[in-house]
Amino acid sequence: MPDFDAELAEFDFDEFADAWSLADQVTYLNHGSFGPSPRRVIEARQHWIEELERQPMDFYVRRLEQLLDQAAQSLAEFVGCAANDLIFVPNSTSGMNIVERNVPLAAGDEVLLTDHEYGAVVRIWNQACLRSGAKVVTAELPRPLTTQDELVDALFESVTDRTRLIVVSHVSSQPAVILPIEEVCRRAHQRGIPVCVDGPHALAMIPFRLDEIGCDFYTASCHKWLSAPFGAGFLYVHPRRQQGLEPAVTSWGSSLSGQDASWKDEFHWPGTFDPTGYLAIAEAISFLEEVGLDRFRRQTHALARYARRRVSEATGGLPLTPDDPAWYASMVTISLPNVPRSDSWPGKPHPLQVALWDPHRIETPLFEWRETLCLRVSCHLYNRPQDVDLLIEALQELTA
Ligand SMILES: Cc1ncc(COP(=O)(O)O)c(C=O)c1O
Repeated sequence: MPDFDAELAEFDFDEFADAWSLADQVTYLNHGSFGPSPRRVIEARQHWIEELERQPMDFYVRRLEQLLDQAAQSLAEFVGCAANDLIFVPNSTSGMNIVERNVPLAAGDEVLLTDHEYGAVVRIWNQACLRSGAKVVTAELPRPLTTQDELVDALFESVTDRTRLIVVSHVSSQPAVILPIEEVCRRAHQRGIPVCVDGPHALAMIPFRLDEIGCDFYTASCHKWLSAPFGAGFLYVHPRRQQGLEPAVTSWGSSLSGQDASWKDEFHWPGTFDPTGYLAIAEAISFLEEVGLDRFRRQTHALARYARRRVSEATGGLPLTPDDPAWYASMVTISLPNVPRSDSWPGKPHPLQVALWDPHRIETPLFEWRETLCLRVSCHLYNRPQDVDLLIEALQELTA
């Protein structure tokens, strides 16, 4: 039996918790949906808001492109690629829409997704296929998950000579599973199939270098685990896909400050917008680097592991993966086969979800995945073992 308490004792869970200004009396175990920023990141954004407001003409027309280049440089160093390969987008969803617009589909073509993909992503590709006569093929990944080879084999069983794109999460949304995207890219590359990785959860949560993954596109939101301001994301585009890439929002398509022409010109002026979230990403990176990425990852994984054990014991729940950091990191999903499904589902929140919030003031998502009710717990640096204990007490009371 693993000794979780010893594992938790290694960390001072109070050390960074005060860096955030979270609401009192709320147990926030949902960084995976909406990741709040530490105060110093909010202040950095506020600084840029004030710079913009005092001289908008100068800011937008003369300064912004250079500032965005600097912001791209620090993000590129963090994610391991050239700054020229990144464009800023408000969120992963926007990045995925750009990819959708740039993958030509014809009748009979196929777009291959896994059955772990995020609802909005599935919708983007369903609609693209509806318009073009192509079809979405959904590969069912093994249950239970046991080895990564088996997972990749299951995905590639659905590849055909009509597959035009594979879309795969780096860390899946509801199941919260780390998918072996490097191996997916390697095998897709051998077959000449481009890969788009949907990566909002992986950013900061797990180590990777974009220039080693081998994907064609990688879309991410910096407002999840990196804790940058809301509305800050990026799309990585491999150099082989950059030329002629079209934006989802057509605007001027050229530099405002007279910089040399670049493929990015189509993207960095989508019309007048608020760029201050992008400019504060560097502060979020500095914060996590000062904490130490290794510390952040080990502490949040240890807490997620604690949550996994306690929720399973308290509810008879079943984790979706082996207990191994190769399969899950700071966020964990446990299926709750003993908790009845709700008649009002889908459409209305499950009664257990409602009761976790009122009266318990606990934020952690409950959803149906593969016909079973599941609970997902996210652990960031402001979460403590006591947050998990409060969740367990509430679950015990509400499911008794
Ligand atoms: C796997 C995955 N992809 C995409 C998204 C969409 O992220 P955003 O709302 O930041 O665009 C989410 C959001 O939770 C997600 O979990």
